[in-house]
Order: sequence, then structure tokens, then C-alpha cells
Amino acid sequence: MSLLIGYLLGSISFSFLAGKLLKGIDIRQHGSGNAGATNTLRVLGKGPGIAVLLLDVLKGIAAVWIGNALSGGDTLIMVLSGVSVIIGHNWPVFFGFKGGKGIATTIGVMATLAFLPSLFAGLIAIAAIVFTRYVSLGSLLFTALLPLFIWGMDRSVEVLVLSLLLFVFAWVKHRTNIVKLLQGKENKLGSKKPS
Ligand code: G3P
Repeated sequence: MSLLIGYLLGSISFSFLAGKLLKGIDIRQHGSGNAGATNTLRVLGKGPGIAVLLLDVLKGIAAVWIGNALSGGDTLIMVLSGVSVIIGHNWPVFFGFKGGKGIATTIGVMATLAFLPSLFAGLIAIAAIVFTRYVSLGSLLFTALLPLFIWGMDRSVEVLVLSLLLFVFAWVKHRTNIVKLLQGKENKLGSKKPS
């Protein structure tokens, strides 16, 4: 039950809704084409971008909380609820299975399940974004560092496996960004024109 709720919750694409409500556009046809907070910032501006970021993070937190409440604190169910909400975000049933890259929702899920590892990985990712202005680089770093911190800080095996799975999801979803980063053509934060 919590897995289904997680998937449906994840399928609520706040960036898509923001695009439709604020400008009558499909965000997936603008900017980078991604239904996520970074592209919302790029296409719709700071306010909507921050709102979508917060709502996508909250979605992740809520799914894990629901898993916790419905299972009486079963770690495996909480982890699976986390996977479900990110699958929903990335491949939403309400929007033709074309969603986002799952980073904000991953932050919500992982901060709830492994706060300190997420905080450390998050701080390094933020520093990378501030120095390079590549959000995608920060996202890739965040998901790559998480399993290392979780392993180093001795969190449960289920949470470690979850972080490895989310690392794979994120890197597969960012494959175009990776190519652009390697070619030096990736969009920088604040630049309006996506390459
Ligand atoms: O979380 C998504 C971000 O890492 C990249 O977004 O729109 O630049 O592909 P975008």
C-alpha cells in the first residue's frame, strides 16, 4: 500500500503543474526539457523554481513518513517507499511517464533515512554548484557521494542498497548532462539559454 501511495505521490509533477498554471506551457518542451526544479528555475524563474524544489523534496520526505506510519517503522518498507516515490517522479503515471531526474525527491528520501550522510554529501554538492554553476554536476556528486558516506557512517544495508540504486537512477537520467559536461557545453546556473 505505501509503495503505491509513494508512486502516486511521486507522479505529481510540480514542475509540470507550475508550467501549466503559470504560463500555460509544458515545461518538458522548454529549457532542458526536464520536469524538475532546475528547469523550472530556468524557464519560470526563481520563485517557482524554489517552490518546486521544496515540494519535490517534501514529496520524498512524505513518502518515507507514510511508509514508516503504515509499516510501524519497517526499514525495508520505508526504503521501498523511497524507491517508489522517485520512480513516480522520474516516470509519472499522470504525465505519460515523462518526468524529472529525481534529485530533489532523492534529497527528501535520503535526508529522512540517512540525515548526516545526506548533509555531508549535500554540502559538497552545493559547494560544487557554487564554484562551477553546474547544477547537474552537484546532482551527480551528491548521488555518488551518498553511498560512500552511508557506508562510512555504518547505516543499514537496506539504506546503503537504496543509495546505490538511486545513484544508478540519477546517473542514467543525467546521461545527456554528463556528455555536455564532458564537452564543456552544459548549461550553467543563471544562463537563460540551454545548449
Ligand atoms: O536535478 C536536475 C539537474 O541536475 C539538471 O537539470 O534541467 O539542467 O537537466 P537540467
